[in-house]
Amino acid sequence: MAAIPLRIITLNEVQKHNKPTDLWMIIHDKVYDVTKFCHQHPGGVEVLIDCGGQDATEAFRDVGHSDYALTMLNPYILGEINNNKPSETKSFDDVKNNNKEEGTKMGLLLPRFSIYHINIFIIILLIICIIIIQLIKWGNL
Ligand code: HEM
Repeated sequence: MAAIPLRIITLNEVQKHNKPTDLWMIIHDKVYDVTKFCHQHPGGVEVLIDCGGQDATEAFRDVGHSDYALTMLNPYILGEINNNKPSETKSFDDVKNNNKEEGTKMGLLLPRFSIYHINIFIIILLIICIIIIQLIKWGNL
């Protein structure tokens, strides 16, 4: 079965959607509406708002997102960008530097403590507990 062609969206149109309540961005020439997703983003909502209405390809790549992160994008696709030449794209460093002063004040430059971090913390805690239980069983403690 032939794939349904994606809606063609102009950069002008994307640029209008740059608010937390209406947030679009371009990643790899595809346009995504991440309004609903942004509050679940493991890297925090602020970095996404900062890329709102823009091409976030480089910033997305700079962070070294997992394949899982790529698949998470699928439900939010709106269409594809209509430019023939590559659009101007912000790197993750640009995003950080643009907001250096304000970001530092608000503590936004550090990734927020999220469910993603809590999961890693719980896994490490579990491993430590298992090691302690084993040591007690073997009479080392
Ligand atoms: C809208 C598309 C995006 C999706 C679906 C997404 C998804 C994710 C996911 C699943 C993670 C957890 C780590 C992983 O699995 O890779 C993550 C972490 C992160 N993301 Fe994104 N992301 C998006 C866009 C962005 C953009 C545009 C930026 C930067 C401006 C960014 C910055 C970060 C940061 C800083 C982390 C935390 C990395 C860490 O704690 O080690 N993300 N993101």
